[in-house]
Amino acid sequence: MDSLTTSPVVDVLDRLLAEARAADQPLHQGFADGSYSVRQMLEDDARDFRWLCRDQIDYFLNIDPQFGRFLHMAARARRANQIVEFGTSFGVSTIYLASAVRDNGRGRVITTELEPTKAERARTNLSSAGLADLVDIRVGDALQTLRNNLDGQVDMVLLDGAYCHYLAVLRLLEPHLAPGSLIVADNALDLSGEYLAHVGDPANGYLTVPLPFHPDRGNTLSLYTGT
Ligand SMILES: C[S@@+](CC[C@H](N)C(=O)[O-])C[C@H]1O[C@@H](n2cnc3c(N)ncnc32)[C@H](O)[C@@H]1O
Repeated sequence: MDSLTTSPVVDVLDRLLAEARAADQPLHQGFADGSYSVRQMLEDDARDFRWLCRDQIDYFLNIDPQFGRFLHMAARARRANQIVEFGTSFGVSTIYLASAVRDNGRGRVITTELEPTKAERARTNLSSAGLADLVDIRVGDALQTLRNNLDGQVDMVLLDGAYCHYLAVLRLLEPHLAPGSLIVADNALDLSGEYLAHVGDPANGYLTVPLPFHPDRGNTLSLYTGT
């Protein structure tokens, strides 16, 4: 058996995914009718990511179930012990990751969220899913919250916060990566292209492929091979 497809995790995910569809509908509608675009979101992010986070405070902005299942499977195949997530929101992706840690039998997820009200809702959701004991939620800017208290090796990273910070967050974590660590980036689309250039160059110690989930949205998987 696995915790992802059994109660309480499966029930909490079903509920949250339904809530997310309703809450994020205006955003999806904006993308569909062209009144908002990924390009515009990138520009907002680069100009003032704090403003964008506040502006999107009611949105889940969550990964979809297929991507979540991929994250869960990757974390289990890697037997990830310490997982770091940049961008908690209401905790949907965190549930996929933490349930993998539960099934691995050991470890923890460190996740970080700028908006305190979102972090609080994530805490409640993780608690309902029976996973709160496996997750360290750090409230604040990832560039500060992930600076300290990473004990030992980081086996897996999910980058799903402000696009303009993907490379800076990865750089912060690099001293903790071991050969074989996995880095998944959701929407690695920062306007500078510096993140993709970094993980796209084997000389920096990475092998990278695009992921098939929303292929136009820059989702990537990188293997840290070591330098
Ligand atoms: C795309 S959402 C995360 C979705 C979540 N991973 C999921 O799938 O359910 C991005 C989140 O990152 C947060 N965020 C953005 N920049 C941040 C930063 N510098 N530090 C911490 N959190 C940040 C935003 O407030 C937002 O809630």
